[in-house]
Amino acid sequence: MIDGQEDSEDKSKETGNKVVYIMTINVLKPYRRYQIGSQLLDKAIKDCTKDDVSKIYLHVLCSNHSAIEFYKNAGFIIKKKLENYYTDLNPPDCYIFEKDLAEYKKEHSIPDSTLEKKKAVDESNKK
Ligand SMILES: CC(C)(COP(=O)(O)OP(=O)(O)OC[C@H]1O[C@@H](n2cnc3c(N)ncnc32)[C@H](O)[C@@H]1OP(=O)(O)O)[C@@H](O)C(=O)NCCC(=O)NCCS
Repeated sequence: MIDGQEDSEDKSKETGNKVVYIMTINVLKPYRRYQIGSQLLDKAIKDCTKDDVSKIYLHVLCSNHSAIEFYKNAGFIIKKKLENYYTDLNPPDCYIFEKDLAEYKKEHSIPDSTLEKKKAVDESNKK
């Protein structure tokens, strides 16, 4: 269990919703700020929406300003700050970033297949 994972995982157990954890995204220094990271993240988000994932989350060091701006720019929000999270890094604090894919689906007019499946089950139960 990754520290800070409990909230998302506990909720996912309650709701049966899938959550995805991004371990890292890394673009080689000379190629940064060419939207490569954004394309990788976009692809991951789109794949997650197809796979009925409800939420994506990840840890970012509080001192990692480029990653903080990068995830904010992609619509992730800071859910929590974890003090002394890393034992081998200084400063050791990090943020948990989260993106709610239900919101993303609404913004991009992507039908929620969980709801579609529920409707289909309800319809077949009526027959
Ligand atoms: C974070 C990282 C993956 C971003 O990749 P990238 O390809 O450079 O990012 P993009 O070009 O797609 O940037 C998209 C937006 O994010 C924000 N952003 C990215 N890097 C930024 C920086 N150094 N400073 C401020 N904003 C930044 C900007 O809003 C940018 O849009 P813009 O260029 O139109 O202003 C890259 O900096 C990296 O590999 N860092 C080292 C590894 C790391 O820290 N990974 C994340 C930890 S989980």
